[in-house]
Amino acid sequence: MRGANRGHRVIISCALSAGLLAATSPAAEAAPASQFSPGAPGAGDPYFPDMGNGGYDVSHYDIRLAFTPGTGAINATTTVLATATQNLSSFDLDFQGPLTISRLSVNGQDAAFTRSGAQELVITPPYGLRKGSPFVVSVTYAGVPQKIDDPALGLSGWVATKDGAVALNQPIGAATYYPVNDTPDDKATYTQSITVPSGLTVLANGEPGPTTTQGGQTTFRWSMNRPMASELSMLAIGGYNVTRGVMAGGLPNITAIGKSIDTKPGQGKVFNQTTAQVIQWESSMYGPYPFDSAGGIIADVGVHYALETQSRPVYDQRTSDVDGDLLAHELGHQWFGDSLTPVHWSDIWLNEGFATYSEWLYQEKFNNIPVQQTFADTYAGEEDWSGQVADPGRDHIFDDLVYNRGAMTLQALRTKIGDRAFFAVLNLWPSTHRYGNVSTREFIQFVERLTHRDLGSFFRTWLYQPGKPAL
Ligand code: TRP
Ligand code: ZN
Repeated sequence: MRGANRGHRVIISCALSAGLLAATSPAAEAAPASQFSPGAPGAGDPYFPDMGNGGYDVSHYDIRLAFTPGTGAINATTTVLATATQNLSSFDLDFQGPLTISRLSVNGQDAAFTRSGAQELVITPPYGLRKGSPFVVSVTYAGVPQKIDDPALGLSGWVATKDGAVALNQPIGAATYYPVNDTPDDKATYTQSITVPSGLTVLANGEPGPTTTQGGQTTFRWSMNRPMASELSMLAIGGYNVTRGVMAGGLPNITAIGKSIDTKPGQGKVFNQTTAQVIQWESSMYGPYPFDSAGGIIADVGVHYALETQSRPVYDQRTSDVDGDLLAHELGHQWFGDSLTPVHWSDIWLNEGFATYSEWLYQEKFNNIPVQQTFADTYAGEEDWSGQVADPGRDHIFDDLVYNRGAMTLQALRTKIGDRAFFAVLNLWPSTHRYGNVSTREFIQFVERLTHRDLGSFFRTWLYQPGKPAL
């Protein structure tokens, strides 16, 4: 928590906005009430204008949630620590669906709130929040969370399963079960305390804390102590067989497989060990693994995709076999997508191109299929050359174009600048922007500076112009 005098500052701004201390307080130079204004209801992503909010910066989420399997209901309190980046008279969090809020406080005092549109929770504290001051919002709510089923983006958010639930939040699911500044460029640390009937298991991002049991209920605790985008937060509740391993550097490696689908003898151990091996191999190319624990979860969710949730990806059993190259993809995302995250969804090729390229590298390293071969096959076989990789459109962020042409762009770049420079990019790009946010423009500049070359027309052709680039 930042600033022990949080409450004090707020009291001053309260008195000020009422004009009481104007003559005596040194804070009198601070803004009068008229200079406090509402934070923006969106963070400015052209694809998702309502997502995220303006006027503050979140540093931490504490999610305390109890889940009742019979009804699928949750009872939760989420506490958000943030700092105002403007003088705020009110601000929004993203929160959607049928959950009912029973109490909401700002700095410990009840605050007025309304819900507007699909996902805006508009909060008006009793007094303005001064620019630069930290504040804490606590929201208590209950109900049965509803997943998102978007025609173009598939299932996301809180997804009920046969024996629990799995929360997968890319790109727009987080707000289905916690109030959040749901934009990739407001990263924060997380603590999650999840209470379930004893016998069920809970997995989440990061490192486990103590598990406690009382009255037939068990509380699992997880913390992610590195900055995390909300789209990469995750929860898995249900019957799981958990394997605890240690990675080469000593970091915990915690993997789990849903009990109902854990049918192949030895699969848990193989999954755990392959995860560690792939991370070790990827670290040798991409630089040190960015988080304090690793792992993965194979679950029976039915979303038909795997997701690079931070430190611990989720692999939907129904996607395809969870084999080494899928692991290479989701674990490659830990560098490209998770530690380093695009500001705007239009730049998602910076995630998917590199993650797909990680699969190509895996095929070369472990299955003797040269990257150039995969490139040539993809180039010859790709049917869709119509879109733009960098800015594919809101409904196309998960199209093959983004994945395949993204990876082809990287292989074409490698051919153009040579192995030495290319592998320097693979290492320096994620380490320079560790835990940060990036754009395609920055990537292009980064490569140009590193190689001392003008690559404008190369990247224009591959990333911005529809049509099959000539080789
Ligand atoms: N980003 C995921 C990955 O490549 C895949 C994914 C997430 C996805 N949501 C999706 C694929 C929706 C298709 C549809 O690892
Ligand atoms: Zn991916």
